[in-house]
Amino acid sequence: MTSWNAARPPSAEDRTFLVTGGNAGIGYFTAEQLATTGALVFLGSRDRAKADTAIASIRSHVSGARLRHLPLDLADLSSLKASVDTLDALGVGRLDAVVHNAGVALDDPPRRETRDGHELMFGTNHLGHFALTRWLAPLLTAAPVGRVVTVGSFAARSERLDLADLQSTRDYRPKRTYGRSKLAQMTFGFALDRRLRAAGSTVISVVAHPGGALDGLTPSRPPVSVTTPGERLRALPAALLVQGKEAGARPVVRAVLDPDVRGGELWGPRVFGLRGAPRREPVPEHMADRGVADRLWSASAELVGVDADLGFR
Ligand SMILES: NC(=O)c1ccc[n+]([C@@H]2O[C@H](COP(=O)([O-])OP(=O)(O)OC[C@H]3O[C@@H](n4cnc5c(N)ncnc54)[C@H](OP(=O)(O)O)[C@@H]3O)[C@@H](O)[C@H]2O)c1
Repeated sequence: MTSWNAARPPSAEDRTFLVTGGNAGIGYFTAEQLATTGALVFLGSRDRAKADTAIASIRSHVSGARLRHLPLDLADLSSLKASVDTLDALGVGRLDAVVHNAGVALDDPPRRETRDGHELMFGTNHLGHFALTRWLAPLLTAAPVGRVVTVGSFAARSERLDLADLQSTRDYRPKRTYGRSKLAQMTFGFALDRRLRAAGSTVISVVAHPGGALDGLTPSRPPVSVTTPGERLRALPAALLVQGKEAGARPVVRAVLDPDVRGGELWGPRVFGLRGAPRREPVPEHMADRGVADRLWSASAELVGVDADLGFR
């Protein structure tokens, strides 16, 4: 394996990437780091003003950055095909990678739902990205080696899916529902790669996670995000264990760019999987369970209303 310098990712001038939730947090820093490669980077965001602010900020840090906003609301499944059609209308003929980064994490009840009536975290984090993958399939297939990079979480390690209650209608506990939504995403990411290999596709699917990524340890990017000196000071002890969102983006960026990364792999930070430089991790057994993955896949295709092959023929 070749060495990897996170501060100097390889040139990707001829490539096009999409980062969902690219207007804030880890998605913002993923977009910023990808922009340094010369690639055209789309920031998928439901809020044009936030996307424009993020684009201006990245341009002020990365000279010559090539960035566009893609209107994208993962909590509104019926809008996703139109979002992808926008890429077509802009003349984007291929997509080299999509980063499924956007996410909702609720701390407190009540249970909330998307416009389509799905539990908000499962609906946005998992079903939204599942549907988006369906509509992006032709553009990803048109790239020499298209990549789907799913952003998972350590929160998924200790969770198990409840296939009889994917939408947490019974005994709703927000943190558990969040962890399960991330587990659904990761299970999907590994299953997608198995299905792509079986179909002989050129597209690969990789899962990456940021470890623990705190705002208080994140460099300021005003007006996108500001960490005050007081917040930074209070977050300092946590730096022994976790990191900021700029560092949290690094395993994700490596999963997008590194030619040595293979489909079906899991990437995360080196130190206890919580902070540090990106490294490949063993895939936890429960995330690679084929029986669970197949049942999740069928249920997801039905809930979203798409063909189970997701268009990767
Ligand atoms: N931070 C951590 O420690 C940590 C740890 C493990 C995994 N992760 C994962 O990393 C990813 C990013 O986390 P973060 O900490 O950077 O979160 P964040 O700062 O809260 O940013 C979340 C992003 O998702 C977007 N988003 C939310 N709902 C959306 C929707 N319906 N449609 C489109 N975009 C939507 C948000 O857009 P708006 O600005 O419009 O709300 C925002 O851009 C998530 O997948 C999360 O599960 C984070």
